[in-house]
Amino acid sequence: MINVGVVGASGYTGLELVKMLVSHSGFKLTYLATTQGDTMIEQLHPSLVDVISMPVEKADIQSVVKSCELVFLALPHKTSMGFAKELLDKGVKVVDLSADYRLELDTYEEHYCEHEDKAHLNEAVYALIEYYREDLKTAKLAAGPGCYPTATLLGILPFIPYLDTSAPLFIDAKSGVSGAGKKLTKMTSFVNMNENIFAYNPLKHRHEPEIAEKIEKIHGVKLNVNFVPHLIPVTRGELVSVYATLKKDIDPIEVLKKQYANDPFIRIRETPVDIKSTSGTHFCDIFATKNGNALFVSSAIDNLLRGASSQALVAANLMCGYDEGMGIPTIAYMP
Ligand SMILES: NC(=O)c1ccc[n+]([C@@H]2O[C@H](COP(=O)([O-])OP(=O)(O)OC[C@H]3O[C@@H](n4cnc5c(N)ncnc54)[C@H](OP(=O)(O)O)[C@@H]3O)[C@@H](O)[C@H]2O)c1
Repeated sequence: MINVGVVGASGYTGLELVKMLVSHSGFKLTYLATTQGDTMIEQLHPSLVDVISMPVEKADIQSVVKSCELVFLALPHKTSMGFAKELLDKGVKVVDLSADYRLELDTYEEHYCEHEDKAHLNEAVYALIEYYREDLKTAKLAAGPGCYPTATLLGILPFIPYLDTSAPLFIDAKSGVSGAGKKLTKMTSFVNMNENIFAYNPLKHRHEPEIAEKIEKIHGVKLNVNFVPHLIPVTRGELVSVYATLKKDIDPIEVLKKQYANDPFIRIRETPVDIKSTSGTHFCDIFATKNGNALFVSSAIDNLLRGASSQALVAANLMCGYDEGMGIPTIAYMP
């Protein structure tokens, strides 16, 4: 068993990690922390009463080093790199769920803040599993992709070689409210969300440069990426619709099937996808169709799992020599 910890155990993604780690056959949960600590995990999350009883400490680097070989940082950006830089120097493997190690330095500093751990930025592996699986096997630092970029990239990457790259790419994304974390805000209040839907940060969201940067890194193509996220009144789930222009005549479903033939957590669907069928799982469901040279690609994920915590756990599995699917949820919350 490999000892692991979760810093940020009171948050939404932290809870998802704890739920999967409780019964993981290769990882032993030895450390949980939040800003203040001094509580029990089942007190923070009553849903865990009679499932796990474990103290939650005030986050402290020395304690992580003493207790863990690998740690998940389910923390806000900037806070994460403050922990990661010292932990990495002290030999602890890190899986970071924040944006701190996802981007090239220039992109990060333009859209987030000054980077405080430039020394480790280059060694981070972007944990979009299907495209970086081999690199993750030797990684000491995995950078969890954003939830929207996960669903978008898994859907559109197989089509990039067939696209008219002079045409803009339009991404229309819809997310459940848990994507914003546990903090209450005016935007995510019940009265504002209930029976409502709206775009936020259209063409200005921080996930737009992440999507553009990874398309360029993986395919060497610079695209005009236009990303519009919406909030929808559901707790979890993300549906991404991509509109693009083809330059070649292809069968979209065949392209997807060929690309993901050996990827157990991608399901190619012959009818449009929905969020509920992936809710509670690590699956990404993808559908695509075309009308002449107009391409429509639609992908669905659970933002808290494939978009964050289960993708982080798969990265940890690979970093520790385990099977990719060890302890990874596959049964959806249906009906
Ligand atoms: N939600 C998603 O769907 C999603 C998807 C992909 C990536 N992410 C990323 O994953 C990270 C966590 O997201 P989340 O939704 O789980 O956020 P969240 O619900 O707001 O939880 C954040 C956690 O960080 C802890 N924390 C903050 N500052 C800390 C500090 N200085 N020391 C120790 N703990 C500290 C908080 O603890 P306290 O309770 O003590 O404040 C809380 O447990 C973020 O970077 C987010 O962008 C989230």
